[in-house]
Amino acid sequence: MSASALDHKRITTKVILQMKKDGEKIAMLTAYDAMTAKLLDEAGVDIILVGDSVANVFQGLESTVPVTLDEIIYHTKVVRRSVKRAMLVADMPFMSYQVNTEEAVRNCGRVLKESGAEAVKMEGGRRIKDLIIQLTEIGIPVMGHLGLTPQSIYKFGTYEVRATEKGEAKELIEDAKILSGAGVFALVLEKIPAALAEKVTTSIHAATIGIGAGAGCDGQVLVTNDMLGMNEQFHPRFVRTYAKLAETMRDGFKEYIKDVKEKKFPSADESY
Ligand code: KIV
Repeated sequence: MSASALDHKRITTKVILQMKKDGEKIAMLTAYDAMTAKLLDEAGVDIILVGDSVANVFQGLESTVPVTLDEIIYHTKVVRRSVKRAMLVADMPFMSYQVNTEEAVRNCGRVLKESGAEAVKMEGGRRIKDLIIQLTEIGIPVMGHLGLTPQSIYKFGTYEVRATEKGEAKELIEDAKILSGAGVFALVLEKIPAALAEKVTTSIHAATIGIGAGAGCDGQVLVTNDMLGMNEQFHPRFVRTYAKLAETMRDGFKEYIKDVKEKKFPSADESY
């Protein structure tokens, strides 16, 4: 972590935008529980996202579509308890902001008031422009999300790279400019070509946070459980694994079971 990010006791939208200006990369990871969030915060991550990836990671679901607003509020509240420095962002789940602006504003307000999140994240392009304007006017910072937007999986039908064709790439750049103009402070770019992500990054005021979008973004995000190697079935090329936690955990469980079965645990020292 560079000296300038360390200088900040709390990461705010202003700090994020300053980091973009200074060319200092933004590190974002996800959390769904207080213990992991504490370690992330102590390690110095800039943004902690309570993602609707809670569906895949925590709930054992195949898509993020079923996640509810109450579940996001619950997990964000839990994470809030241990986050002191990082900016805490909550993902707005599918159908919590799509029906109409009034309902969306009320739901985003609930998330900030009840969970302690400092910003909300939502997927989508120009369709949510007016909502973003309203939310930022009210004082609810918004992080956008373009490219592969998992809440639209039934529309896309695939988790493949997005915007590889000219038309979709052009539309994505336009959407990014519209969202930035409407007031998002940051924009997640998921699974799009690196050159396109770089073009978006240099074209907008908001900070871009890439996931499978190359090195040209202002920052990077990964799902924490993926980068820790907890999911041995999920190996997309954009995930770099920094630990082999599945292996470590399984070995630990096996050793414990063996010790119990062989009457080696607990020892006298571990007893009262
Ligand atoms: O839900 C999530 O974790 C996300 C990140 C992958 C950006 O949206």
